[in-house]
Amino acid sequence: MKLELLGGLSPKKFLRDYWQKKPLLVRGALPGFHGLLSREGLIELARHDDAQSRLIMQSQGKWQVRHGPFSPRTFPRLQKKNWTLLVQDVNHFLPSARNLLLKFNFIPHSRLDDLMVSYAPEEGGVGPHFDSYDVFLLQGMGRRHWQISAQRQKTLIADAPLKILQDFKPEQDWVLEPGDMLYLPPGYAHNGVAKDPCMTYSIGFRAPSYQELATQFLIYLQDHSAINGMYCDPDIRLQPHPGRISAAMLRQAGAALGKIRWSRSDVEHFMGIYLTEPKPHVFFTPPSHPVGEQDFAYQVAQTGLELNLKSRMLGKKKRIFINGESYTVGAAARRVLENLADHFALPMVENLDKESLALLYQWYLNGYVELSTTESMVF
Ligand code: SIN
Ligand code: CO
Repeated sequence: MKLELLGGLSPKKFLRDYWQKKPLLVRGALPGFHGLLSREGLIELARHDDAQSRLIMQSQGKWQVRHGPFSPRTFPRLQKKNWTLLVQDVNHFLPSARNLLLKFNFIPHSRLDDLMVSYAPEEGGVGPHFDSYDVFLLQGMGRRHWQISAQRQKTLIADAPLKILQDFKPEQDWVLEPGDMLYLPPGYAHNGVAKDPCMTYSIGFRAPSYQELATQFLIYLQDHSAINGMYCDPDIRLQPHPGRISAAMLRQAGAALGKIRWSRSDVEHFMGIYLTEPKPHVFFTPPSHPVGEQDFAYQVAQTGLELNLKSRMLGKKKRIFINGESYTVGAAARRVLENLADHFALPMVENLDKESLALLYQWYLNGYVELSTTESMVF
């Protein structure tokens, strides 16, 4: 299937030829797109302490970064040009932002990070840099001049408070208008400068470093592996140097540590928990007036249900993961819950199986899912 969003490429072709390989400029990726919120709307979001926001300013060649939350009074005081407000996780606040992310579901949700939105007055930008992750830069209101480079030279300005390339050598450039989009693979140098007051929507992906993965897996193993036995030395030898660690002790310890084992199933379990773990600043609010389980089932049948905007949900075979929790489910529940994980919502479902109903109701009470208020979506 060819996608206008990918400039007429099919997702398969995009993945084969561009994803993690080379940039793609798409004119009119989302025709008619002018953004999901206004400058004031973004400034309002930056007030929240659970929305991570940064203000980047440049004056006389010096960069400055401030971290939010910001009072709306901050902004009128700023210089007219040359600053940028960046707000992460906008998809945690706007249903329309999550719907935008769903358009990119040709990349698995396990790779999805967030929607970051920036506002910059004329000449604003965050400087030439590279990101470690794939990003789709979708232009909302206004125009932005993008310059990009495949340069290998990645030296950063030493005393800047953010990552700025010391020696940026642009190779290609374009002015993006509302609805245009630029895909960049990880490590591709870029610099975007606002030509007008402009807003850019960054659909960002996540990829853990192997070190991070290993560290988290070792933490996981603390609770998920058991090694029997205890150090013992009935045949201990007299040591002329009691202050030394004996080779026999090291041998025994090494053999015990060599018993640490894990299976594919442990890796699957760990990855599901790790990938759905909410970011540290994310909290869920239970409904203030929850309905009973029977009413809940009735409403799911009438209007359907949605994942809370902050929820992360994934599945693997019989395992369903939501917000760092893991559940093993039967075939009927698996079908229902996989549908929810794929689409972030469930259409009206009559006669929910008992297992799905019990889980969904528990998640509703936790604030992980919500009853839809509108008619069920059509997929
Ligand atoms: C921006 O939206 O100003 C910055 C996005 C980026 O360069 O990654
Ligand atoms: Co960037």
